[in-house]
Amino acid sequence: MAEAAVLLVACLSSFLFLTCFLLQKRPRQHLPPGPLGSYLYGVKNQLPSSEPWKTYAKWSETYRSPIISFRVYNRTIVVLNDLESIHALLDQRAQIYSERPMSWMYNVICGRGKSVFNIPASNPRHRTYRRMLQAGLGQRATKEAWDIMRKETEVLVVGLAKQPDNWLQHIRRHAAAVIMKVAFGYTISSLEDPFIKVAEETSKISGWAMAPGRWLVDYYPILQHVPSFVPGAQWKRQGLAWRERLTYLSEVPHNWVKEEMKNDTYLESFTSRFLQFDLDDEDGSVFSKFKSNLGGEEDDIVKWCAGGLYAGAADTTVSALTSFVLLMALYPEVQRKAQQEIDIVLGVEDGSIGPYDVSSPISDMENLGALDYLQAVMKEVLRFAPVGNLALPHATLYDDEYQGCIIPKGASVIPNVWAVMHDPKIYHEPFAFRPERFTNGDLAEPDPRQFAYGFGRRSCPGSHFAETSMLLVMANILAFYSVAPQENSLLEKTRELEFTTEITSNIRPFPVRITPRRATSRVLPA
Ligand code: HEM
Repeated sequence: MAEAAVLLVACLSSFLFLTCFLLQKRPRQHLPPGPLGSYLYGVKNQLPSSEPWKTYAKWSETYRSPIISFRVYNRTIVVLNDLESIHALLDQRAQIYSERPMSWMYNVICGRGKSVFNIPASNPRHRTYRRMLQAGLGQRATKEAWDIMRKETEVLVVGLAKQPDNWLQHIRRHAAAVIMKVAFGYTISSLEDPFIKVAEETSKISGWAMAPGRWLVDYYPILQHVPSFVPGAQWKRQGLAWRERLTYLSEVPHNWVKEEMKNDTYLESFTSRFLQFDLDDEDGSVFSKFKSNLGGEEDDIVKWCAGGLYAGAADTTVSALTSFVLLMALYPEVQRKAQQEIDIVLGVEDGSIGPYDVSSPISDMENLGALDYLQAVMKEVLRFAPVGNLALPHATLYDDEYQGCIIPKGASVIPNVWAVMHDPKIYHEPFAFRPERFTNGDLAEPDPRQFAYGFGRRSCPGSHFAETSMLLVMANILAFYSVAPQENSLLEKTRELEFTTEITSNIRPFPVRITPRRATSRVLPA
């Protein structure tokens, strides 16, 4: 047995070496330019662990090309650093560029290939998912979720009065509470809620299993056949254990809704609606087949889609709102201007806001739409501190050619959203935080929401939902509180801001003071 294992390992090593050698020898002249790296690893060891978007932008300058390419092990990665190439490829050739890079560890060994984020766009299921998400998160659904958003925002405002220093926790709780209610009709009590624990464990394991460059099997899929008992195959044993755990975790909220439905104690939600009712799509067709079906393929589709809601919503809006609070602290004049606009909508002067109450006019959807300057602030937050600096990687379905370069089938294609958002050809003084760039009527600079939510067939289905929820939170925070840095010196340091490097990104939090605005302090519930 030991001899067989040694032989297997030797064969695999030779295979890996040969593949890398041949790849290195392959003529590169048709690929976009970029660093070569080593035979075995490509540029794996040159990739920075933080803010890789800046490195890609630098490489783009070094190689004098907006499109660059490099290799990590045997995988070709293409980075698009300008708007022209992103639109030309990811939007206009969406039929080729809407796959996702194959993660053998996550998709196959952990059994997560059907997740909304990972499923190839060429799989017909992806189309079904998208139509369901559109119906479940579009304008009508967002209107239906308004009451949930409003109530949870109220909890946030009261929470900030009680524990202003825990503002980040309050924002996280708000995002989780809204999406749990919308996806499953489930009410969370706190961030310690068991359903939140389930969702967080899922996202933690998924992060490990999808970590780029970590699993050799992602680059040499033949390794998936290595038996788990072979010495050195700890990764496979780990992957199989994760598979079991992830399968269990994804069943928890789904089965809970089904149980509630059986007992007729459920609250209407994305899951209950799709499991039970006809839901008329824009054209009134697709979803009738989900009627009264509590098992099988349709059940499975609803489960994966609802799981995608939490995965899509939990960190994204939290990242944007975190950056918002910190930027308000750093830019008091922007904060004051937004507060003045809110006060006019509320019909009050000098920030003397009346008692906090559920029917506060700022929680009226139409009034929210009238906050033009606040909308410009939201756009500028999404531009200055993009939540997805590299969106999510796409992959090609076929070989393609663009401006004389070959983009091979299966290549990962990464849009450098950060480079676009900070391109001086698009945004004047791109490192300045200036919402006024979006309030100049015809002279306004391009709306960054075109790039903030991704591209082509993978663009974010939750953008409308997210913006409504974020605007409501922003308006309420500024209506009732003022934000300031704890140290004034920070005001001088905006250029040294640090950004986090997870799948989502935000300004790295620093201490801020959140204080009630005048009259509010005496009227907020104790
Ligand atoms: C500030 C808020 C948000 C931002 C900036 C954002 C951004 C993004 C980006 C960049 C992508 C990848 C697009 C691509 O691959 O080209 C994405 C995908 C996705 N987002 Fe969002 N998102 C936000 C909020 C939300 C919310 C609230 C939900 C759900 C309620 C959501 C659900 C999804 C889903 C399901 C996908 C996967 C789409 C697919 O692969 O087909 N997102 N989002």
